[in-house]
Amino acid sequence: MPIALTRPVPRSIDRCELTHLARAPIDFDRATAQHEDYENMLRALGCVVERIEPADDLPDSVFVEDAVVVLDEIAVLTRSGARSRRGETAGVERAIARYRAIQRMSAPARLDGGDVLRIGRTIYVGISGRTNEEGARQLAAAGAPFGYTVECVGVSGCLHLKSAITTAGEAVVVCNPEWVDARSFRGCEVIPVDRGEPFAGNVLRIGATIVCAAAYPRTADVLRRRGYDVHLVDASELSKAEAGVTCCSVIVA
Ligand code: GLY
Repeated sequence: MPIALTRPVPRSIDRCELTHLARAPIDFDRATAQHEDYENMLRALGCVVERIEPADDLPDSVFVEDAVVVLDEIAVLTRSGARSRRGETAGVERAIARYRAIQRMSAPARLDGGDVLRIGRTIYVGISGRTNEEGARQLAAAGAPFGYTVECVGVSGCLHLKSAITTAGEAVVVCNPEWVDARSFRGCEVIPVDRGEPFAGNVLRIGATIVCAAAYPRTADVLRRRGYDVHLVDASELSKAEAGVTCCSVIVA
C-alpha cells in the first residue's frame, strides 16, 4: 500500500507565503477539517496516511510536497526558494528516512517540490520564482545514477510547475497552457483545463483515481468523459494559501 505523508495545518497558516494571490482570512478550524477529509480520502483510496509532527511555527508546513522529492531509490530534501520554508525539511526528513536514503541540496540551489513533475524516468523541473537552474542541476546529479534525466521547463503566472500541470495518466497531462508550454512534455497527451478554471491543472493521481479540487467541476467532468475515475475534495480554505491538491501529501509508493 502506498504511504501518504501529511502534516497538520499549522496554527500560523494565515501567515503563509503568498505570491500570486491577495491575502484572505483562512479559517484554521475549517482548513483543518478539510485537511482531515483529504487524509480520509487518501485512506479510502488505499493509502496508509502517516502524519509528520505538526510545526505550528512554520506557516506553510502543511504543504509537505515542497520539502522533498521522492524517487524510487532516494529522497532528495529540497532547499526552498522561500526562506521562511527552509525549516520544514527537518520534520520531513525524520518521516521519510524510514523509507529512502536521503540526499540534500545546498546553496545556491533553490527548489520546491511543487516544481517537480516526474513522468517515468524523466523529471521535469519548473524554473519558477521558487526554483532555479542550480536546483535542477543538483536534482539531476542526485537522480542520474538511477537513470533519471532532468528537463527544465519555464513557468510563468503561477507559483509552481504543478500549479499549471500534473499527470492524469502515465503519459497524459492536465494543463493550463497559459502558465506552461505543454509541448515541453514530449510524448504526452495534453488535456487542457476548462478556461474558467485556471488552477485545475493540479490533480493528484492515486492509482487509477484522479483527485481534483471540488472548485473545478468542469475540468473534472472533462476527465470523467475521458474515462477517469475522479474524486472531488473541498480544498477551499487552503487554496487561499495558494495550494493545490498535490501539495498536502507526499506519496511514497
Ligand atoms: N503558500 C504556499 C507557498 O507559497 O509556498
